[in-house]
Amino acid sequence: MTDTFTRMDESTAEQWAVIGTETMKNQSRVADRVLGLLQSLDSITDGFSTDQLTHCLQTATLAEQAGADDEVIVAALCHDVGKAISVPNHPKIAAEILRPYVRDEVFKMILVHQDFQGRHYYGHFGGNPDAREQHRESLTPEEFELAAKFADEWDQIAFDPDRETYPLEHFEPKVREVFAAAKLL
Ligand SMILES: [Fe+2]
Repeated sequence: MTDTFTRMDESTAEQWAVIGTETMKNQSRVADRVLGLLQSLDSITDGFSTDQLTHCLQTATLAEQAGADDEVIVAALCHDVGKAISVPNHPKIAAEILRPYVRDEVFKMILVHQDFQGRHYYGHFGGNPDAREQHRESLTPEEFELAAKFADEWDQIAFDPDRETYPLEHFEPKVREVFAAAKLL
């Protein structure tokens, strides 16, 4: 074992410097973990016409084909990754995984994506199809527009087994690049 503390109230600045260096050295672990979580979505279908990995890949494919930038493409790929853990709070899980690595409008696009998607299905549960409107105040017009484009043009149509879908390997370099370093929060 390394020569370091067994309780934090006995730690030293030097020991924390080692931890900081080691943590930064192992940053590539983040992309590995995200890719692993994404891969695990292939075992979750829950009544949809595609498994959740295919849905995420198809959403990212549509974003890429529409000319979106790399942060938006990677966020589109990861937007439902929270479902690997828990469906009811999956938007927040995915948004927080992405938050240190993408610009704010991309974080918000994922955070609110379920309410924007609700336009296309909340009515079936007696919910409000215009639930996205509750976010009108907290989002800038540009952020609102991006979240709407994500839900309406990519996410909600990405359940088609016959639609072109790039494989996970195609997106891996972009995933590694986006998760390579945290931006300041
Ligand atoms: Fe989705």
